[in-house]
Amino acid sequence: MSLNRRELLRTGWKVGGTLLVVAAGWTTYEALRPLAGGATGGRVSLGDPSNVEPGSATYFNEGRLWLTNADGQFFALSQKCPHLGCRVPFCESSGRFECPCHGSVFDIGGEYIKGPAPRGMDRYELSVADGVLVADTTKLLPGPDRGKSDFLTPARGPSCAEET
Ligand code: FES
Repeated sequence: MSLNRRELLRTGWKVGGTLLVVAAGWTTYEALRPLAGGATGGRVSLGDPSNVEPGSATYFNEGRLWLTNADGQFFALSQKCPHLGCRVPFCESSGRFECPCHGSVFDIGGEYIKGPAPRGMDRYELSVADGVLVADTTKLLPGPDRGKSDFLTPARGPSCAEET
């Protein structure tokens, strides 16, 4: 069987289009998929607390967690949304955690603000050893109940969800 030029082009477009759709789907899945598990487990060194600016959130890939300084109180927040487990990024413009999957929003202390999440962001046990913050990723504590708002402040600016 031989293909003429038109059939070859048509087949090429179909194959190319299919590959493009598969690649786009895979990229979206990778970015938003619920995590199979939490952090890898163990103690993760998060550095000198004096280097952590108030109101800041720093991501640590090793523990898959966010270190935050909420008004002088430090938290090691799991990146896994307490709703259905999507990765929750920190939005610099609003100063809040904003889940891209269903719109749950949390303050700098991981407290629930809005959305379908049943509670605030879960936290790893955090301690200071030899002047260094250490998160124990084998000890995950449930996030605070809805309604807790010890660290709630007005948003710094626009939400990342609105910036599109
Ligand atoms: Fe975060 Fe649904 S997984 S709001």
